[in-house]
Amino acid sequence: MKIKEWVVREHVEGAPDVDRIYEKIVRDIDVDLAPDEMLLKTLYVSVDPYLQGIALDTPLGRHMGADSVMEVLEAGPRAAHRPGDLVQGFGGWRSHLVSAGEESLWQTGTFPMVFPAFRRLDPCWYDDALPLATALSAMGGPGMTAWGTLSTFLAAGPGDTLVISGASGAVGTLVGQLARLAGARVVGTTSSPQKAEYLSRLGFDEVVVYRQGDSAESVREALTRAAPDGVDRYFDNLGGAVTDVVFSLLNVGSQVAVCWQWATQVGQDVVGPRLLPYIMFPRATVRGIFSLEWFTDENWQALHTELGGRVRRGEVVCDHTLHHGFDSIPAAYGSLYHDRGTNLGKVLVEL
Ligand SMILES: NC(=O)c1ccc[n+]([C@@H]2O[C@H](COP(=O)([O-])OP(=O)(O)OC[C@H]3O[C@@H](n4cnc5c(N)ncnc54)[C@H](OP(=O)(O)O)[C@@H]3O)[C@@H](O)[C@H]2O)c1
Repeated sequence: MKIKEWVVREHVEGAPDVDRIYEKIVRDIDVDLAPDEMLLKTLYVSVDPYLQGIALDTPLGRHMGADSVMEVLEAGPRAAHRPGDLVQGFGGWRSHLVSAGEESLWQTGTFPMVFPAFRRLDPCWYDDALPLATALSAMGGPGMTAWGTLSTFLAAGPGDTLVISGASGAVGTLVGQLARLAGARVVGTTSSPQKAEYLSRLGFDEVVVYRQGDSAESVREALTRAAPDGVDRYFDNLGGAVTDVVFSLLNVGSQVAVCWQWATQVGQDVVGPRLLPYIMFPRATVRGIFSLEWFTDENWQALHTELGGRVRRGEVVCDHTLHHGFDSIPAAYGSLYHDRGTNLGKVLVEL
């Protein structure tokens, strides 16, 4: 059977140049399944900023990994799922695949990461109010990141000012809306006035427009105005100048969740002031976020009930920017970096 794949052809640091990095190939696969294998067809592919690091660690010539929703077309007698089942897992930028869907080890530069086994998506969980695509947004990794952070570490409530850097994306918009519902005052940063308006529509109390490279002084002024009583909770997607300023505004007993450091990991901005005094005096707690730790059956169920319930009742908005067709995957991914103006919420490709 002929299948399509996007493979990594070159390792390129910094903001991804998708035309150099990826090549589409068509190849023949053997669909003579082993007893535990399945033939799966990809329905939706997720594109996420962290794929920049995954691409750098992918051996040249190998397909690009990514989170996806797949349908089982055929299954061996001992396979984990049956034909007709819908599953979510790290299926990659492939039109079809043969896989046992077991958990897989991924060795990154610093530590090993385990991608969970493909999980079955219960069809009862999805309908028009909570479409299947949410399995890669509010009901998937981004939702678990937002909900898991707020429910296990960064509890924000009445009287708290929560700042979210890089707030307009899939994760930031959910963190902001959930924290607001819990009674916190929510401040977001985003890079354009249009997205600032979007965040205001979602209920953010204040929005600061910041793009990497803007002067640190102007960010300081804007953030000091937006958080005049200091910062109690900080959800950091960006690092760099925004984080430098927020650290200097931390209140006593504050908490910082480090979800991603765009400025260092992609923007290659590795210089900053010494921040530790800003943690010492306010006795702040800083915790790294690694959402895979919350990927348990119990948490998926709770996510569906709690966050899914809020989306269904219209209390939380979960927008998608949907691209269409296998060929559009690299461009959809590139849009996270180069053409972000029109992206709202989670960026996905429907095959
Ligand atoms: N640690 C974990 O376990 C975990 C789990 C899930 C996600 N993540 C990471 O968390 C981050 C947010 O995820 P997401 O799904 O919400 O991503 P997303 O939808 O792509 O949002 C990314 C955010 O980064 C901002 N951004 C991108 N380039 C920028 C630049 N040059 N200057 C300033 N801002 C820039 C975007 O700003 P605009 O508002 O201007 O578009 C957007 O708000 C991602 O980096 C993702 O990799 C981490």
